[in-house]
Amino acid sequence: MPEKIWYTYDDIHRAIRNLAAKVQASGTAYDAMIAIGGGGFIPARMLRCYLNIPIYAVTTAYYLNDADYGTRNEISKIQWLDPLPQCLKGKNVLVVDEVDDSRVTLEFCLRELQKEDLGVIGVAVLHEKIKAKKGVLPEGLPYFSGLVTEDLWINYPWDAEDIDAHNAQAAAGKASA
Ligand code: G4P
Ligand code: MG
Repeated sequence: MPEKIWYTYDDIHRAIRNLAAKVQASGTAYDAMIAIGGGGFIPARMLRCYLNIPIYAVTTAYYLNDADYGTRNEISKIQWLDPLPQCLKGKNVLVVDEVDDSRVTLEFCLRELQKEDLGVIGVAVLHEKIKAKKGVLPEGLPYFSGLVTEDLWINYPWDAEDIDAHNAQAAAGKASA
């Protein structure tokens, strides 16, 4: 069981501000975000506060196949931009997700989006985990992360059933750091 870390909405808002500053400093003007649901939805909405561009969405599901000792994990589309809206043709898009973990989901989404008639495809993740990656990001795509973290299991506030208990865990973690 990996160690865990808790982040509050406020922590995340600060990391998003940092992420937005990096995107803006890159000099590429993005026309829209494509959020990868569900984890990318709230980060994309927070990013919009800084970037002021519309949010489109795709959703995938990642199935762990334990019976196969993890060799046949599968990823599938729950919802996709199919067909790609006409107004996105040739436009620069920023693909937004909450975490760069194994990169399996990211690689799948980026390779699918590369088949479309888009301009620059940038990648913006809230948390970039430092670990060996299973997926490979297509070469040459601008990449931005809000916060680099160790390979810990991240507890996000939007998954909390009891947000006060979640915030207390986050505070305890900071106090012991
Ligand atoms: P990646 O390409 O972005 O690196 O993601 P990867 O396929 O490795 O992730 C598989 C699923 O595991 C994703 O959920 C991702 O959000 C989730 N995940 C990975 N690391 C963590 C973590 O530390 N904490 C939490 N809470 N989730 C993590 P998904 O299938 O996209 O579902 P959803 O939760 O985004 O809807
Ligand atoms: Mg996700």
